[in-house]
Amino acid sequence: MFGSTLPSGVVIETQPGLDPGARYDGRAAGYDWLIGLGLYNRLAWSTSPRDYAAFAQQAVDSRTGPLLDVAAGTAAATAQAYRSSTRPTIVSDRSRDMLARAAQRLADGDRVRPGIRFVQADAFDLPFAPGSFDTVVCLGFLHLVEDPAGLLAHLRAQLRPGGRLFCSSLVAATPRGTRYLNLLHRAGEVAPPRTADELASITGQTWRRRGSMAYLELGI
Ligand SMILES: C[S@@+](CC[C@H](N)C(=O)[O-])C[C@H]1O[C@@H](n2cnc3c(N)ncnc32)[C@H](O)[C@@H]1O
Repeated sequence: MFGSTLPSGVVIETQPGLDPGARYDGRAAGYDWLIGLGLYNRLAWSTSPRDYAAFAQQAVDSRTGPLLDVAAGTAAATAQAYRSSTRPTIVSDRSRDMLARAAQRLADGDRVRPGIRFVQADAFDLPFAPGSFDTVVCLGFLHLVEDPAGLLAHLRAQLRPGGRLFCSSLVAATPRGTRYLNLLHRAGEVAPPRTADELASITGQTWRRRGSMAYLELGI
């Protein structure tokens, strides 16, 4: 489905000091294949990609102004919602390879709709003015992070008054999912696994959970 070239007119904006070579560079194709598999999500996490896409659609439908996606990956869950929206949208990630694949997925034919930008950026050092966005989306990233409350504070700072944050995280919930998360943690891929209750207590927010995925929707 995807080659290595960017759709025509797409530029991946980057920041001084942010070189290629992020952890997910070189893995974009494998990640992308796995994350879209219904069987993988069901067996490993007792979830469905449809849940992720529905949450993304909820985020897109929540407001009409600028939307920021942080650690957007290959836009596997969000592409359909972003393509059919007219909202100004920034798709950001630390990995250039993941962004290239996101751009390919978001393309309709050889073009990405006007209003979508791709920005290589670190989630903890975002290059946007605080208070710039009506919606911030951050899916499937918090379980990689040692300081989830700190990340949420960063993300909230990007919101305008009345804006909403949509965030999801894998949590230790089912026996199989917890074993897998522990394995990923030992491999250095994710932070120490947390339950949804632990995440709630660390972040001071109420998370809803489906299978091993926890979801947070938050207004400011
Ligand atoms: C598990 S993937 C989730 C991707 C996507 N949001 C999804 O739901 O499929 C984690 C993503 O976080 C990105 N990432 C890792 N560390 C990051 C950082 N410090 N800042 C921004 N993105 C980061 C990776 O490049 C990868 O694309």
